[in-house]
Amino acid sequence: MPTASRLLLSARTFFTLPAPAAFAVPLGLSLNLPSLLPGIFESILRAVPKKKTSHSKKRMRQLAGKALKDVTALNRCSACGKVKRSHMLCEHSHSFDIFGIASTSSHIVSVAGDSNVKVWELATPKHPLAHVFNGAHRLGAHHVAASTAVTEPLAATAGFAGEIIIWDLENMKERSRIEVVSDCDGVWAIAISPKGEQIAATTCDGKINVWNTSDMKNMAAQYTTKGSFGMCIDMSADGNLIASGHQNGGIYIFNNTTERMHHSLQGLVKPIRCVKFSPAGKLLAACGDSNVIGLFDVSSGEQVANLSGHSSWIFSLAWSTTGEYLVSGSFDGKVKVWSMETRSCVATQSEATASVYAVQWLPKGVSGGEGFVSAGANRTLAFYRETSGE
Ligand SMILES: *[C@@H]1O[C@H](CO)[C@@H](O)[C@H](O)[C@H]1NC(C)=O
Ligand SMILES: *[C@@H]1O[C@H](CO)[C@@H](O)[C@H](O)[C@H]1NC(C)=O
Ligand SMILES: *[C@@H]1O[C@H](CO)[C@@H](O)[C@H](O)[C@H]1NC(C)=O
Ligand SMILES: *[C@@H]1O[C@H](CO)[C@@H](O)[C@H](O)[C@H]1NC(C)=O
Ligand SMILES: *[C@@H]1O[C@H](CO)[C@@H](O)[C@H](O)[C@H]1NC(C)=O
Repeated sequence: MPTASRLLLSARTFFTLPAPAAFAVPLGLSLNLPSLLPGIFESILRAVPKKKTSHSKKRMRQLAGKALKDVTALNRCSACGKVKRSHMLCEHSHSFDIFGIASTSSHIVSVAGDSNVKVWELATPKHPLAHVFNGAHRLGAHHVAASTAVTEPLAATAGFAGEIIIWDLENMKERSRIEVVSDCDGVWAIAISPKGEQIAATTCDGKINVWNTSDMKNMAAQYTTKGSFGMCIDMSADGNLIASGHQNGGIYIFNNTTERMHHSLQGLVKPIRCVKFSPAGKLLAACGDSNVIGLFDVSSGEQVANLSGHSSWIFSLAWSTTGEYLVSGSFDGKVKVWSMETRSCVATQSEATASVYAVQWLPKGVSGGEGFVSAGANRTLAFYRETSGE
């Protein structure tokens, strides 16, 4: 297929695959979103909470932008010599929109509408490319998940052609794969357990399929829901629970021990684009086209908070290592940091006007302080870090 039409197909699939008729906007690429955002929303989005004296005040101020590296600072790319923004990798990380990023303890893995899976070093400040799996996904890939344990790091990527590939990141090679596995259009979102023993994937008919990564031929478990497209999935840090979010607004939590549904959650309008367990597994954050992030208590199933502030679809969420902060990325290009202590937005990064499809918190202790990475329609990974001191 010629490149142009392949890319268009990928983009179209990304936006319309869940349910073409139900989407307010059939073709994401033809949107001119900024003009849809009246100025009044800008002031709301930029608002930071009132000063408050608490032990985390300094941290909050740091994250609120005081200590985030100046986003307009420029430097020269060590690889190609081009002048670029200092926190961005040299443009472009991918030749098409980046749809997913995941992090192991030492690498960031990114997938895009192009066919390559790219692996970036975390330990070196400039985050050089560590490896490219060239032509890995014929039609591009839309989701990536990675194990977080230090030993035998694995990543899994899900492609637009319906395949899942498991990557051995220690030896930088393909470990196993499954091709179109369900009777509809294959699998969609994927999650991998922290130690990499199991992988779970949603399907367009609402099923959750679970495999042992050591045996991708035989399914280890399967959960069934009401049949609505499974748009997102996550596994808790202890591997005991799986959460899925669906096109019809359904959010489910499954218990891996009993292999049964643990909760069916209510509260957000459809569809759900991201679900993420907090590091301690007590909370589940969920978001989507309601522009609100819902926080749910995992043991009771009660909704405990609504985080509002985004004025567009929220595509992606990631918790900080300690669970103190949540970062969210939106279709309008805004990236927000939320404090769990105050349950409010403490920072907004709004330099990108291109949609942000993926955010990922960086593991602690990787080249200095805390930070996160975002990526999307700009095709460039952007690393944000808290600097030391004020
Ligand atoms: C998956 O692994 C578990 C534990 O190692 C084992 O009990 C189970 O039989 C495996 N299932 C499949 C389908 O391989
Ligand atoms: C889920 O349960 C199965 C069977 O009890 C077990 O083999 C597997 O390791 C568990 N998965 C995780 C991620 O802990
Ligand atoms: C999952 O089910 C098992 C067996 O009933 C139970 O012991 C465990 O607490 C459940 N896990 C969660 C997180 O509720
Ligand atoms: C969150 O918002 C929903 C919809 O407006 C509402 O039904 C729910 O009660 C709110 N929950 C909390 C905890 O504020
Ligand atoms: C995309 O990233 C580049 C830096 O690589 C930046 O200069 C540009 O403003 C960004 N474009 C959008 C639309 O966000």
